[in-house]
Amino acid sequence: FNAGPLHGVRVVLTAGPTREAIDPVRYISNRSSGKMGYALAAALQALGANVTLLSGPTNLSTPAGVLRVDLESAEQLLEESLRAVAGAQMFVGAAAVADYRVDMPADEKIKKADATMSLTLSRNPDVIAAVRQRDAKLFVVGFAAETEKLAEHARAKLERKKLDMIAANWVGHGRAFDRDDNALSIFWNGGERELPQASKSELARQLASLIAERFLAARN
Ligand code: C5P
Repeated sequence: FNAGPLHGVRVVLTAGPTREAIDPVRYISNRSSGKMGYALAAALQALGANVTLLSGPTNLSTPAGVLRVDLESAEQLLEESLRAVAGAQMFVGAAAVADYRVDMPADEKIKKADATMSLTLSRNPDVIAAVRQRDAKLFVVGFAAETEKLAEHARAKLERKKLDMIAANWVGHGRAFDRDDNALSIFWNGGERELPQASKSELARQLASLIAERFLAARN
């Protein structure tokens, strides 16, 4: 029995990178390790939430008490997200969703031939925006990874995707991705909070309490 502040709250959380197939053996992806998302899944579970973790490929083990669904592409993530949010109260999009997918992945391994080759890419669906559109009452938390103008870009995403909260971090040049520590700036309509450099598990605990605080405030 777990009587934390999020007791009985159903949370769907996405984490890790997506993989966009080029052919049966190759793909396009990114440097996301999934560590922040997995740590947050564990921290929300520890506050009493019932967490479903929709995970791209990672090397991480499933946090205790969390239900994990594995998937690869952004399109699969969208499908699983829309399925999972039925009956949920909160959606947290920590996945590093590939912005583009390969048009018509080859059925067989592509053979090397010419000195150059091109791939045509198409925009992927925005999973978090689609989830928000599906359910206006869900409490939706997004992430933003930025290399410049952190607050400005994060606040723009908060507004554009109609999120309830956004956790922003600096990336690139050895920061955040595939590391064990991080720092976050959290923004919501009417407030913000800085979470200084700490281990991802410590940051996840702080972020989870802030999410619980805002979620409970929004519900009352
Ligand atoms: O627009 P940007 O990718 O920077 O927004 C980041 C936020 O949007 C994250 O919460 C991420 O999980 C989500 N996202 C998404 N689907 C996409 C791109 C981003 O859900 N195709």
